[in-house]
Amino acid sequence: MVSRFVVTAATAALTAATTVLAGPSYQAHPDRADAVKATFQRSWDGYYEFAFPHDTLKPISKTFEDDRNGWGASAVDALSTALVMGKAEVVQQVLEHIANIDWHKTAAGREGVSVFETTIRYLGGLLSGYDFLKGPLADLAGDFNVDLVLDSAKRLADILSDAFDTNSGVPHNTLYIYPNRTQLSDETTNGIATIGTLIIEWTRLSDLTGDPKYHELVQKAEDYLLNPLNPEVGEPWPGLIGTNVFISNGTFADSAGGWNGGTDSFYEYLVKMYLYDSDKYAFYMDRWIAAADSSIQYLASHPTSRTNLTFLAAYNGRDDLNLVSSHLACFDGGNFILGGLTLKSQKYIDFGLSLAAACHETYTATLTQIGPESFRWKDSSLPADAPNNPDPPADQADFYDRAGFWIQSSDYVLRPEVIESFYYAYRATGDVKYQDWAWEAFLAINKTTAAGVGYSSIQDVNAEGGGGFTDFQESFWFAEVLKYSYLIQADPEQPWQISADGANEWVWNTEAHPVRVAGPPS
Ligand SMILES: *[C@@H]1O[C@H](CO)[C@@H](O)[C@H](O)[C@H]1NC(C)=O
Ligand SMILES: *[C@@H]1O[C@H](CO)[C@@H](O)[C@H](O)[C@H]1NC(C)=O
Ligand SMILES: *[C@@H]1O[C@H](CO)[C@@H](O)[C@H](O)[C@H]1NC(C)=O
Ligand SMILES: *[C@@H]1O[C@H](CO)[C@@H](O)[C@H](O)[C@H]1NC(C)=O
Repeated sequence: MVSRFVVTAATAALTAATTVLAGPSYQAHPDRADAVKATFQRSWDGYYEFAFPHDTLKPISKTFEDDRNGWGASAVDALSTALVMGKAEVVQQVLEHIANIDWHKTAAGREGVSVFETTIRYLGGLLSGYDFLKGPLADLAGDFNVDLVLDSAKRLADILSDAFDTNSGVPHNTLYIYPNRTQLSDETTNGIATIGTLIIEWTRLSDLTGDPKYHELVQKAEDYLLNPLNPEVGEPWPGLIGTNVFISNGTFADSAGGWNGGTDSFYEYLVKMYLYDSDKYAFYMDRWIAAADSSIQYLASHPTSRTNLTFLAAYNGRDDLNLVSSHLACFDGGNFILGGLTLKSQKYIDFGLSLAAACHETYTATLTQIGPESFRWKDSSLPADAPNNPDPPADQADFYDRAGFWIQSSDYVLRPEVIESFYYAYRATGDVKYQDWAWEAFLAINKTTAAGVGYSSIQDVNAEGGGGFTDFQESFWFAEVLKYSYLIQADPEQPWQISADGANEWVWNTEAHPVRVAGPPS
């Protein structure tokens, strides 16, 4: 059954008979939303029985792996999705777990802690849970003392703060945590994604606790990315920067980059920090605009075999485009759309929609109807024999002719980014086509990755049955894939849904954990 909701902004605009553009209207699909919830419950039950309170379920061997330091990554990552789905029992199970996490204790042999992964999954999960449970979803807290969630987030950040104890203030990404001390890794560089994807979480923590130190640590590090000290190396095009920064002095070590893994969420957080507080973080938006304009001008690339598709190339300095993109990079469509909604600029929305449409093609072209981990193409505007513009491998020539890309890494590890961009495309336009794309992607994933007592990464999206399982159910399956798949079909007026008029009360971290915005609507 399909019920119809009309957003109030659209109704108001019609009544007032003004020339103001009506907002999109949305449809709910309760049947689809319920099916996504059932998949969440199935994944959770397998995890809870065979892996909890460890990090990750191995659904076929029915055991677990502590790949995120053993603090229960899947539980914490599942919290904000369980909340928006109204799954009261799961919420209570996670809250009881959070009360027991000892951040000084890491799983044996896994004491090397990624500051980035720990921030986006654990800290983001805790802060989102806290904001929901202190706000619109307070009913789901039951008798639980929600302040314990913020206390735990603070204890975690206090330990992680040691990673910033460097000459420049650029943190190490790897910190060793022992029962009563920490130790810096011997890393000499850190990357812009791992440095630049801390700012929302640590700023939110400062705003919630009233202690500015968390924000100050990450802002100091972020400043090296916002204003490169050596732009001749670190900023090959306005706003588009390199990948690695020396920890000793904050200068850039290279000129390589793009929107793939390692750089991606640095750009994502530029627009999201502006959303978080448009008064305080206006400069972030200036930098996003510079990066977005340079990407449209220099990185947009159309495959020779299907010139109506648009992908973003990677680069190694100005003179060397690298024609490769990835499932991770497919968040770019959604991020351009979010930037366009925030700035009320159709240019960025339209460009984002074209990126989302091209990523959709990476799904529809394969045997499983799921897109690959990474893919390549030949650029129609570069010389056909340019060294950086090679032909597809012979065994994929036909596939390339038909699809407009060829597969470089064929696996799929339960990533969300393609459905994430469909979600933003739907919120911006109200076009039900995007709900259908998200539903078809969900069905394909739900069918192909179902394994044992849960869902598992697969080896080959272009082979029958996905070419075999890796027996691993990533925690972001709970946080991201199932949240986007659910919200695009669910009640469209829930306050944490992205708003087409740019006035958002919530901003989503890169792991899809929404936290409350601090400033006035942008
Ligand atoms: C650190 O913790 C270990 C294990 O709890 C304990 O044996 C040791 O004495 C502690 N060291 C310090 C310096 O507190
Ligand atoms: C920054 O540190 C790197 C690595 O130690 C070094 O190669 C580079 O010359 C330094 N740059 C400046 C401006 O000090
Ligand atoms: C590209 O063109 C083909 C053939 O006309 C069409 O089927 C497809 O939908 C187009 N794709 C996009 C992303 O515009
Ligand atoms: C999702 O997968 C599970 C496990 O195979 C299955 O029971 C369920 O029916 C599937 N959902 C849909 C909507 O196909």
